Amino acid sequence: MASFQAPNDVSNADPLVCSEVNPPKTDVLPSGSSASSQPSSQSSSGTETHALHEPLVFRQLELCDRSELQKIHEECFPVRYNAKFFDNAVKNVLGDGRPLFSHVACLPPPPPSTDPPKITGCIISQFQSSIKYAHLNLLSPSTLQSHPLIMYIMTLATTEDYRRTGLASLLLQKLIQNATSNRNCGLVYLHVITYNTSAIKFYEKNGFQRVAQCEGYYLIDGVSYDSYLYCLYINGGEPSESWLDSVESLVDKFADWLDWGVKKAFNV
Ligand SMILES: CC(C)(COP(=O)(O)OP(=O)(O)OC[C@H]1O[C@@H](n2cnc3c(N)ncnc32)[C@H](O)[C@@H]1OP(=O)(O)O)[C@@H](O)C(=O)NCCC(=O)NCCS
Repeated sequence: MASFQAPNDVSNADPLVCSEVNPPKTDVLPSGSSASSQPSSQSSSGTETHALHEPLVFRQLELCDRSELQKIHEECFPVRYNAKFFDNAVKNVLGDGRPLFSHVACLPPPPPSTDPPKITGCIISQFQSSIKYAHLNLLSPSTLQSHPLIMYIMTLATTEDYRRTGLASLLLQKLIQNATSNRNCGLVYLHVITYNTSAIKFYEKNGFQRVAQCEGYYLIDGVSYDSYLYCLYINGGEPSESWLDSVESLVDKFADWLDWGVKKAFNV
């Protein structure tokens, strides 16, 4: 497994070149259901858990989600995201206006309340240029050329009362569908802090493979933590060779070049 140094302030989370994002349509689960929103069970930690047959609404982020979005991030992540991140996310753009992909599950408040819908789960991601991130060595050289895009998951969270209900898996599947529908996209990837075993199990269960450990990727309260980098290859995207394979292939290329030079010089 590769190991490399990565920037450790992701709170501004403002990466790179995006391409078109297909905005998801609003969905209700299940369609037309009027299932009760009463808690369905209690977890071992005493947190009430809910079932996914509740009338959750699935849609992309909207301006009215600003406070709820910040709340779920503050509850679920040790990393502190700055205000600009949330301001932009609810507009489904990055700071420079390039699009984000977002998908949220929310519970509309009972009428006549005018409170914002409670966000119970959300995923935020973006398309990036695979060439710009070629130094991460995620795609093989041939698939790097044929797949100019990669998709990066910036954040994924579900509230405690909705954990282990399959909600995060649903949000992730929606994102994978979106990424796969763009044939130029060769992989979905993300960073996870190395001690986050539930997220690690979650991504591995969903077919992601660990490809690298990034030293000091996160800086939290002045302490740096490593992250693992996880990938899911899609649309025929293929993993890069190992570091040793890359060196071997460079040596081979150099030998070919030398051979060609010698033949040319001596006209053989
Ligand atoms: C990671 C997270 C998104 C998972 O959400 P979730 O709604 O519980 O996910 P799902 O219900 O779809 O879980 C699917 C699988 O993930 C794994 N998993 C999730 N939580 C787990 C835990 N605490 N322990 C072990 N496995 C776990 C299991 O394999 C689970 O399948 P199972 O319930 O059949 O055993 C959620 O725990 C979370 O929001 N954590 C805080 C934020 C975070 O760490 N985000 C990820 C980094 S971006």
